[in-house]
Amino acid sequence: MGINRRHFINLTSLSVAGFSIKGFANNAKPNKTNKPIVISTWDAGLNANKGAWAVLSTGGAALDAVEKGVMVTEDEKNCCVGLGANPDRDGFVTLDASIMDHEFNCGSVGFLERIKHPISVARKVMEKTPHVMLVGEGAQQFALSQGFTLESGELSDDAKKEYLNWLKKSTYKPIINIERKQSTTQLDAKFQAPTKLSNGEWNHDTIGMVALDAHGNLSGSCTTSGAGFKLRGRLGDSPIIGAGLYVDNEVGAVVATGQGEDVIRVAGASAVVEQMRQGKSPQEACKFVVERIRRIKKEKANDIQVCFIALNKNGEHGSYALHKGFNYAVHSNDGASLVEAPFIY
Ligand code: GLY
Repeated sequence: MGINRRHFINLTSLSVAGFSIKGFANNAKPNKTNKPIVISTWDAGLNANKGAWAVLSTGGAALDAVEKGVMVTEDEKNCCVGLGANPDRDGFVTLDASIMDHEFNCGSVGFLERIKHPISVARKVMEKTPHVMLVGEGAQQFALSQGFTLESGELSDDAKKEYLNWLKKSTYKPIINIERKQSTTQLDAKFQAPTKLSNGEWNHDTIGMVALDAHGNLSGSCTTSGAGFKLRGRLGDSPIIGAGLYVDNEVGAVVATGQGEDVIRVAGASAVVEQMRQGKSPQEACKFVVERIRRIKKEKANDIQVCFIALNKNGEHGSYALHKGFNYAVHSNDGASLVEAPFIY
């Protein structure tokens, strides 16, 4: 696949989750802002976007949309993020999340255990504290003080199975293109990104979402269980504002997925926003930063996946991935679509 072309998957006749969704051929709408619009990572984003669209299509704020949207995925049992996801190597699910609005307000939580909606705790951090980030026990205490319920801490059936399987070898090796468990969304085989490795392992589990509302305001959210079977205490890029997520309402909003350590190294989401500020399109800006990561990682870039999705102030969107197999979901007045990201390898 050429790396300068945007590749759209037209889902015009594809039925997803019981109803038909419309595809589109071109996201750019010259001289007209494409709003409202929401985009999110992976095909799990199709469902998440529906949650966001319920807010956006009725004139709601992008901030509410990106919170409600990723909550859909956090709620999915045995799915990619939230308490149903894979645990760390000690058998505990630990969650990271961040949220940012159009006025540089932001909040995040890291290493949060037994709380169902880390994205909503991140929002409370943003709105109710003078801080940006709370982690671990303190984040959990804060969540409880805000009325969140302490969940059981039991692993989901899928996660239990995979953890027991992982324990047989107990090796941790980042593996590309497995940011989420198999989506509950039914897709035609040709639209499927790789879902599960032949050895049965899953690794990263993230959903990131950015939206532009009818008032012209951008916001973003990101929520994850991080790298599967990670070292206890590990934080990825998702709760780090500027790495996993960044929003500048004058320019655009960006969220990352993939190997968090390598997104942090280049302050990824912020770097993509800065490239858009210089005049690059969302796709060009994502590509610029992915190529920087490839240069830094050299041959080790073969072993990791990093992807960005970006939305600019005009509602134009784009993406770029280090490796083949990343896609993102779009929802606007044109309907719902899944877009295959261009890539280097
Ligand atoms: N990008 C998610 C993580 O590395 O934790």
